Amino acid sequence: MNDPIETAIVSLDPATTALAPVLTGFADLWSESLGPAMPISSSFVQYNLQSSTGVVRRLFVAEADGRMVGAALATALHGEPLVTEHGEGWVDALVVAPAVQRRGLGRRLLGEAERWLAAQGCRSVQIGGGLRPFAPGAPQASGSADFFVHCGYTSFEVAWDMAANLAGYTPPALREAPCTVAPATARQADALLAFLRREFPGRWRYEAEMLLAGDGRLADFMLLWTARGVDGCCLLTFPDSRHPIERFYPYQLPKPWGQLGSIGVSADCRGQGFGAALLDAGLRRLHNNGINGCVIDWTTLVDFYGKFGFECYRAYVMLGRTLPA
Ligand SMILES: CC(C)(COP(=O)(O)OP(=O)(O)OC[C@H]1O[C@@H](n2cnc3c(N)ncnc32)[C@H](O)[C@@H]1OP(=O)(O)O)[C@@H](O)C(=O)NCCC(=O)NCCS
Repeated sequence: MNDPIETAIVSLDPATTALAPVLTGFADLWSESLGPAMPISSSFVQYNLQSSTGVVRRLFVAEADGRMVGAALATALHGEPLVTEHGEGWVDALVVAPAVQRRGLGRRLLGEAERWLAAQGCRSVQIGGGLRPFAPGAPQASGSADFFVHCGYTSFEVAWDMAANLAGYTPPALREAPCTVAPATARQADALLAFLRREFPGRWRYEAEMLLAGDGRLADFMLLWTARGVDGCCLLTFPDSRHPIERFYPYQLPKPWGQLGSIGVSADCRGQGFGAALLDAGLRRLHNNGINGCVIDWTTLVDFYGKFGFECYRAYVMLGRTLPA
């Protein structure tokens, strides 16, 4: 290792700090550290730092010569045991400016984030994949997974963003499934949330509640209806959705950009063609709205989405560790 960098680390609570300079500093630092394929804007940082029920965050920042050179963002969630089944908290981002890497700053920032998460009662930490994520895990191309393993983390999976150009979207042969799929309409929020509480009561239910409690657009959800009611849903992102398309780093794909996911059907309806019908309806809606480059993010179902023309686009290494009691 090179000479350790002694810069002080400052701890900020995004809920109570005047953030404007921090937003720009953080966006610039992320964009420089992750390279040209994964830039972010300060408005995306601001979106990801907005408060949500039960969420507490801490941003650890190191500056040198008046500029942010390192940052770690830690997130914990209280009062939602179905979302944090393993007592997990998240290091949503850990970035060190290339010019000062390999001088101990990343390890110090990670240590600060872990100590703060432990003090919040978290029993484990995951890298990325938080409630307003910058990425599902450590982007494989960044090479940072080895750093986390070096710091005591275990890598347990590789997850993919997959992508397709929907300009010429043609569905694969689909089974007849007794269902209809349509965008959610104004009076269907309760039906959507009842479905999610029943079938996906953890993160997906929480995320939908937060989206709709903010100014998220109900019609960005597609609902799958069977004779008994809502039995599936998927979320779409359009260029004008409230939740930002930036989150999916679509920049290597043809514009306009869109996204699909999460997507799920009731447990007792699986294996009967409902999921494919829902996916197809979502992709056709994106196509009909002129979307070309489309991302299906954070998945391991490479073969399923491959049948619909999607290819692996970006890999993330999922990493975690337990915290000392
Ligand atoms: C990952 C990152 C934060 C590491 O920061 P850093 O300040 O360079 O790391 P440190 O100097 O604290 O390194 C601590 C130890 O890990 C090792 N290490 C650092 N980067 C490594 C890497 N890419 N591969 C393997 N080991 C690495 C160091 O050699 C050091 O080992 P030592 O303590 O035995 O001497 C930095 O490389 C970065 O910002 N990368 C791009 C952003 C990114 O991908 N972040 C993850 C997404 S959230």
